Amino acid sequence: MTSNLVTSLIYVSRKTLPAPKNAEAVNDILLVSRQRNKSLQVTGALFSASSTFAQFIEGPKPAIDQLMESITRDARHRDVKVVSVKDDVPRKFPDWTMAYSGDEHYMDRHISRLFEALPGGLFKEQLGQLEALMVEFGKRAATDPARRS
Ligand SMILES: Cc1cc2nc3c(=O)[nH]c(=O)nc-3n(C[C@H](O)[C@H](O)[C@H](O)COP(=O)(O)O)c2cc1C
Repeated sequence: MTSNLVTSLIYVSRKTLPAPKNAEAVNDILLVSRQRNKSLQVTGALFSASSTFAQFIEGPKPAIDQLMESITRDARHRDVKVVSVKDDVPRKFPDWTMAYSGDEHYMDRHISRLFEALPGGLFKEQLGQLEALMVEFGKRAATDPARRS
């Protein structure tokens, strides 16, 4: 996977599925994502907390736009809220078509705050915390083959 400059996007969303169906749904999502993202040169990470998702995707801008069209209309979640878009940035997850972090309950708290936040200073701080968690996860995943895509 090349690590040229890309567009990166972070969104948060609320799960619509009852908890028992979650593992199966996430498996289905990962299966499709790993194939489709590879063909679109998209990499990233999906965070599945108890009632929310957060996803980091990065790749060529048209690929990100195309992917977000599919993701936004997906009935397995709702309230898809894009919290960060950056153009011309280096890849953060060059090795993973879609790394996955599941059952990270502490993530729910951070993700939920981003739904409630109004645009402004506080929002920036909360987004910074989420980004820091994602990078931290990236470091852990780098040493844990089970988390790799
Ligand atoms: C939380 C969440 C994250 C997803 N992430 C991706 C992804 O990174 N790549 C992908 O191809 N599909 C992803 N999907 C699945 C897409 O929404 C969609 O079902 C799939 O790409 C097929 O696209 P289509 O419905 O336009 O045919 C995700 C779905 C959900 C609910």
